Amino acid sequence: MSRPEQMKIAIIGGTGQLGFGLAIRLAKTYSVTIGSRDVPKATAAATKASAVARVSIGAKSNPEAADACDIAILAVPDLPSADLLASMAPNLMEKLVISPIVPMVFKDGLFSIAISGESAAERVAKSLPMAKVAGAFHTVPAARLAKPEEPLDYDVLVTAESRAVFDQVSRVVSSVGKLRPLYAGPLSASRMTESITPTLINVERLNKMKTPSIKIV
Ligand SMILES: NC(=O)c1ccc[n+]([C@@H]2O[C@H](COP(=O)([O-])OP(=O)(O)OC[C@H]3O[C@@H](n4cnc5c(N)ncnc54)[C@H](OP(=O)(O)O)[C@@H]3O)[C@@H](O)[C@H]2O)c1
Repeated sequence: MSRPEQMKIAIIGGTGQLGFGLAIRLAKTYSVTIGSRDVPKATAAATKASAVARVSIGAKSNPEAADACDIAILAVPDLPSADLLASMAPNLMEKLVISPIVPMVFKDGLFSIAISGESAAERVAKSLPMAKVAGAFHTVPAARLAKPEEPLDYDVLVTAESRAVFDQVSRVVSSVGKLRPLYAGPLSASRMTESITPTLINVERLNKMKTPSIKIV
């Protein structure tokens, strides 16, 4: 396996808020490519992110970014469509795929998880059966990632089917600020970890806080 600094991370949907923040942080350690449904949009985002990170960040279509990577992060809203996942499935076989996805709805003054039953990470794993899917980064605010001076002294709950996959995700998480990865169990625990994000947003709104995250003591 390549050394971490040579490993390639594709951020699928990397033109969005979370993707931008992760790109500028991860580019300090990894070779990062921003993926998009629209290559000129990816190029514009990569130019902006490269200027902030002061290191070159690449841009490709989502399937091309998935093909060229060692690790993919699915920074897309809600659940990726079956078409999007199917378009990338052959390119992600045997690779680590990290889902930060939190499908949310706002109803009766509160945010909550949008889907019943399965988590987003489990659905992704079903659509990418040959990939090593893990859940992480759900509680790291994009606005804080985007400020390079923010230390990010938070915990990141990681779900993965095995400790070996958790260890791989841990290396990625630990490369970002002071983030501390903690194993939260197999993918079947993802619904619990994903549901912390709407809780945090409700706490933020109800207590006039700004982009809270979590630290377990
Ligand atoms: N924002 C945060 O603070 C934060 C923190 C933790 C976790 N998350 C989770 O991370 C994910 C991304 O969040 P975000 O705030 O970055 O989202 P976002 O800015 O709304 O969207 C990210 C990107 O997803 C792509 N996209 C949008 N609709 C799509 C579709 N139907 N199919 C495929 N791609 C689509 C778009 O890229 P292109 O148009 O370029 O393809 C967009 O720029 C979400 O699941 C969110 O719950 C967010």
